[in-house]
Amino acid sequence: MIKEYIDTILQGDCLDLLKKIPDNSVDMTFADPPFNLKKKYTSCSDSLVFEDYIAWCEKWISEMVRVTKPTGSIFVHNIPKWLTYYAAYLNKLANFRHWISWEAPTAPMGKSLQPAHYGILFYVKEQKNAKIYELRHPHKRDRKQGFLWKDYGGKKDMLHPFGPLVSDVWTDIHRIKHHQKRDLHPCQLPVHLIDRLILMTTDENDIILDPFSGTGTTSISAKRLGRKYIAFDLDSKYVEISKEKLKNTKPNYKIANIWVSFYLKEIVTIRNKDWIDLEKHFIIPSPIRSIDYEKIKLMDSVLIPD
Ligand SMILES: C[S@@+](CC[C@H](N)C(=O)[O-])C[C@H]1O[C@@H](n2cnc3c(N)ncnc32)[C@H](O)[C@@H]1O
Repeated sequence: MIKEYIDTILQGDCLDLLKKIPDNSVDMTFADPPFNLKKKYTSCSDSLVFEDYIAWCEKWISEMVRVTKPTGSIFVHNIPKWLTYYAAYLNKLANFRHWISWEAPTAPMGKSLQPAHYGILFYVKEQKNAKIYELRHPHKRDRKQGFLWKDYGGKKDMLHPFGPLVSDVWTDIHRIKHHQKRDLHPCQLPVHLIDRLILMTTDENDIILDPFSGTGTTSISAKRLGRKYIAFDLDSKYVEISKEKLKNTKPNYKIANIWVSFYLKEIVTIRNKDWIDLEKHFIIPSPIRSIDYEKIKLMDSVLIPD
């Protein structure tokens, strides 16, 4: 039964715990495994020999595909080098949709091209039945005055009032670098990165599973967007941190019945189909048809987070 695992974070090895999850039972799986880059995790080795790392990854990847529903999606985050092996394996088990390039500048490596993105592989279990929604992200605006940064060749009035459709290159979500914003974890992801994947492929009450939960980013995103989560991590300290954070997380990323992703008190992702409903209530004509965040703040149910 999957019910007993819903909205829980379990401590243990994901290969053991995934065995407990029935076939075709979750709507989305997301994995952010150790990258085999000698990071200092407290409970696991991050420096396996090449063949062992790939063989281990293939095991949990096939489990992720097995537990995903026919309508569901599978996401894997890693550096491009490992994703090339994952993709070769996943192509045999599921259907490729996108290689999402998440811009994230890194320290100079020397002698080669400067790495400037992580990849997120996006596969669906069944091409025909997959649940996928188009997304929009906001135009770049001046934070205080709200005017648009670019002049768009004098055609500002013809632009979508919120922003363009989200492409497969993400440059608007930044890595967590500041220590006061991160927990004691070497590679915590920003929650609004996961929000985007969840809004794109799931609906309210759908189940999201993360076999490498870390500080619980996926579960927090799922909970605040009104979804269910199942998460695993080998490290009991990370499990405790996540449970503590989840106690204070509410399913309140919703405006006028629409689930949205916030960052720094502004919407960073909305479904294309939901825009029209939001526009009816919250658009002010000037400056250049922007969102009336003051009005949103006055709504009882909405807590615009920090
Ligand atoms: C890259 S981190 C995930 C970070 C996470 N996405 C976040 O935002 O906090 C990988 C995590 O996998 C966990 N881990 C490593 N091997 C594992 C295994 N065999 N089963 C479950 N968790 C494991 C590590 O403890 C670590 O927290």
